Amino acid sequence: MKAARAEGGPGPAGSPPWWKSGVVYQVYPRSFQDSNADGVGDLPGIAARLDHLTALGVDALWISPFYPSPMKDFGYDVADYTGVDPIFGTMEDFDRLLAAAHGRGLKVIIDWVPNHTSDQHPWFQASRRSRADPQRDYYLWRDGRPGGGLPNNWLSTFGGPAWTFDPRTGQYYLHSFLPEQPDLNWRNPEVRAAMLETLDFWLRRGVDGFRIDVAHHLMKDPDLRDNPPSTARSEFHKPMGEFDSQVHLYDRNHPDIHRIYREIRLLLDAHGKGQPRVSIGEIHLFDLPELVAFYGADQDEIHLPFNFTLLRTPWAAAAVRRTVDAMEAALPAGAWPNWVLGNHDESRVASRLGAVAARSAMLLLLTLRGTPTLYYGDELGMADVPIPPERARDPWGRRVPGLSLGRDPERTPMHWDGSESAGFTAPGVEPWLPLAADAGRQSVEAQARDPGSMLALTRALLSLRRSRAALHQGSYRPLDGTPGDVFAFLREEGEDRVLVAVSFAAHPVRLSLPERPSGILASTHPHPALEGPHRLSLRPHEGVVIELGQ
Ligand code: NOJ
Repeated sequence: MKAARAEGGPGPAGSPPWWKSGVVYQVYPRSFQDSNADGVGDLPGIAARLDHLTALGVDALWISPFYPSPMKDFGYDVADYTGVDPIFGTMEDFDRLLAAAHGRGLKVIIDWVPNHTSDQHPWFQASRRSRADPQRDYYLWRDGRPGGGLPNNWLSTFGGPAWTFDPRTGQYYLHSFLPEQPDLNWRNPEVRAAMLETLDFWLRRGVDGFRIDVAHHLMKDPDLRDNPPSTARSEFHKPMGEFDSQVHLYDRNHPDIHRIYREIRLLLDAHGKGQPRVSIGEIHLFDLPELVAFYGADQDEIHLPFNFTLLRTPWAAAAVRRTVDAMEAALPAGAWPNWVLGNHDESRVASRLGAVAARSAMLLLLTLRGTPTLYYGDELGMADVPIPPERARDPWGRRVPGLSLGRDPERTPMHWDGSESAGFTAPGVEPWLPLAADAGRQSVEAQARDPGSMLALTRALLSLRRSRAALHQGSYRPLDGTPGDVFAFLREEGEDRVLVAVSFAAHPVRLSLPERPSGILASTHPHPALEGPHRLSLRPHEGVVIELGQ
């Protein structure tokens, strides 16, 4: 009983469940494929492109929010948790997409945004109507401090105070993000029940799991104490402006949060007989014990608390190894790791690391122990697209000027082919964000013809990962004594043994191998060759997967 709960049900014939052995692919629905020529991607568009995902070789599709929304934060401001925004299609379109994905053996994970709703959600509309409204307590309302100050010193992630005064009822409400995204009061049992019902709704429709938005934010200090000032460098993976001036001790991650995830896990497991339902938590905590606490004391909470530690790691061999080893050491027994290099909130990998290192980063992501999540377009090496100020859409960039926090550059349309709109939308239609200048040359169509392309590399790595138990379920053992610029590790599952070596150097490096390899299974560079029975020369930023012991 316990084992079945921890696993979410086994895979076929005793193999690991899909969420452990598989690879997740994130689609930002506005930007994947437009099917109705309005310049914005939609659900029928995703359905039309499922062949790309099966040819790529991923296992699950995570779709960022498509619920009815005023789109102040492009869908992360939800006005109805059980609907589909007309810009993305209809509920029938969703059902068709789900069936089509399942028909191809792809799992579907949807985004669930429990920390806050849109200010247009009927609950908030009722809540703000009067202090006596039965739904007043669905949100966090407080009086100002005597003398007229804000209720406390908490800040919004997106800049400015986390409190907005509502003159109608003369109180402030809390919003950890935009004023148009009021925080729900998860200490109210009615909120908990209503939000769990929204999960139940989608589970009954057949989704395979949820990515939980800012999962660590749901429970705050019940006394709403002031956060202490911070003097350290940003605790996050990027500078956040004024938000960095505090230790975020009281505005998130109160220990009571864990009982919510235990409750959610019970719900997922209740629906999981025969079809494991999975939770993936978006958790920006870089203190590892705090992060791994979200697996649950008995692995009875979140299946995969997103691990963003590589985003905070300088791209150098020793630093990356330290990050991987630290995570491996911090994992509770039996907890399954996961790795992330990009998503809709981060500058693209190819822009952060450069096009060459982006290839070895992909090799690393797909060979580390744990479930990788790929962001759409990273399989093409898509880079950040410069956005002219008049086309900027993301409110974060506007609210915190001077720090490049705007996320438009990494959300631009997918490159499908060499046509005028790169196949994203109809000819003559302006996409909601500009296309990259090289979209046609860097498209799926062009790269599918080129054996040296990023797409060809990603497909080859995904296929190798699937075919080798060592890679999709094996152990991890770092290799000591490598040159300083090389991170190498063994992945082993019974007789199946591979060695992964990644060079972070801009010059060639020689690597002595601990044993005689039987062949090179993959490389980021063309024509890899061993130099001698125990020697390998790695070219600048080359990554290789080597077969051992055959
Ligand atoms: C995290 C999401 O990934 C981000 O896009 C969003 O703006 C915030 N949460 C607020 O929901």
